[in-house]
This record gives sequence, structure tokens and C-alpha cells, in this order.
Amino acid sequence: MNGRDTTERALAVHRLLNAQLPVPAEPLPLAQRIALPDVHPPKAGLVATLARRHSSYDFSEEPLEMLELSALLRFSMGVQRFVPAYGVEQYPLSMAPSAGGLDILRAYAVVRRVAGLDHGVYRYEPVSHELVQLTDTDPGAHLAEVYLQEEFAWPPAATVAITARLDVAFDKYPLRHYRTLHVDSGVAVQNLYLVGTALGLAGCAVAGFDDAAAGTLLGLAENEIPTMLFATGRPA
Ligand SMILES: Cc1cc2nc3c(=O)[nH]c(=O)nc-3n(C[C@H](O)[C@H](O)[C@H](O)COP(=O)(O)O)c2cc1C
Repeated sequence: MNGRDTTERALAVHRLLNAQLPVPAEPLPLAQRIALPDVHPPKAGLVATLARRHSSYDFSEEPLEMLELSALLRFSMGVQRFVPAYGVEQYPLSMAPSAGGLDILRAYAVVRRVAGLDHGVYRYEPVSHELVQLTDTDPGAHLAEVYLQEEFAWPPAATVAITARLDVAFDKYPLRHYRTLHVDSGVAVQNLYLVGTALGLAGCAVAGFDDAAAGTLLGLAENEIPTMLFATGRPA
């Protein structure tokens, strides 16, 4: 079975689990690249960070600093190293390991309050450590439709959304990888928790979201699915 057929079967499973029909892809209007600032790694020790990590449901009204968002993305889902793989000399491997090292996951920053950034939806580009701004409107009302719990819609300064590209996954792997890409997403979520904690940020992993609404918010093509959300901000 070729990758396209397997992607179709995975989408059928995905729709069945969600009891949802596909949402027509509406690409988002902007495509403006924004360089993220260079950042130093947080100094907190690993075990101390594991011991302090917890889910937060109360967020400060203060904005996040661009440096904090940059560090959160860089050290949880940025590039860790390059290796010769998949027919290229410099294939990027992420800070979050994935099955086969395959570059399946994407991260988006859905921004309500980050100093120096417009409200809006941004796609993270790990190789260049840039954001691509896709919209410039406040995503709060849309987040209220995405999150099943209203406490995550307005108070967090930002949401990091993790998505998985099914076409990339099923060009290499059989349908069973539908499960594995959710494991990949879980690994990335733990990185977000730990890096966020080390930076002194509050955060919560959220699996309770509406897939179709999340796909529309992020402007996802049909073969890219949202897998996890991570609400973050300064602690209350
Ligand atoms: C994969 C995953 C999905 C989660 N989804 C939600 C969610 O939808 N809503 C929520 O309030 N918390 C969610 N959480 C947070 C958990 O409820 C929380 O991690 C758990 O109660 C343990 O608390 P702690 O993180 O403070 O140690 C999720 C956590 C994980 C790891």
C-alpha cells in the first residue's frame, strides 16, 4: 500500500474517533517570517525541574516575553543536531526524539499576549528558529471553541499546538504509526512541561480540544492533524 492510501486510511480512523467530517482547508492569510531571538538554556537542574513540574490552571495577565517563547520553542521542539539521513546530508533531529527521527511534528504558537508579537497564529520553523506569522487577530474567541475547558481559552498568554503530518508519517510507516505519532507528541509535551518549568512558566498539556476547530484555527491542510495543545503563560 502506498503512502497516499495509508494516509487516507489513517484519516478515516481519525474521523471515526472524532465523529467529525473533514474541514475544508482554508490556508491562513499571512506568511511573514519573524526571527526569534537567540537564547541561553535555562540553568535549572533536571531532577529539580522534574520535581517542580506540575500542571497550572491559573495564569497571570502579564504577557510572555519574546525571549521566553523563543526559549520554550527552541529547547523543547527546536533542532538538537543534524545527521545524514533520508537522502540528505543535514537532516534535522529535534530536541524531542521521534520514531525514526522523522520530522513529522510541527509546533504552532497561538499568541494572545507576547511582548513584541501581534496577536495571532504563528508556525514555528525549527531549522531557522523563526516564526511564520499566519494571522494577526486575537485568537481568544476561536480558542474558546477549540478548548473544551473554558479556563484555557482566554487566560493563558499563548498556546503551543502540536500537529502531525500524516503524509510524511505514512510515506515511511504503515498505518500502525497513527499510534506512534501520538507517542511522539507526548514526548514533545513533556519537553514543553520541563522547559516551561525551568523557565519559570506555568503550563498545562491539554488533550481536550475540538479537532475540527483546532484545524481551522491553525489553517491545517487535511493531512496535518492537531495532536496536543499546551497552554502557557506566567504563573498567577
Ligand atoms: C497527555 C495529557 C493530556 C492532558 N489533557 C488535559 C486536559 O485536557 N485537560 C486538563 O485539565 N488537563 C490535562 N492534562 C493535565 C493532567 O490532568 C495532569 O498532568 C495530571 O492531573 C497530573 O497533574 P500534574 O501535571 O500537575 O502532575 C493532560 C496531561 C497529559 C499528560
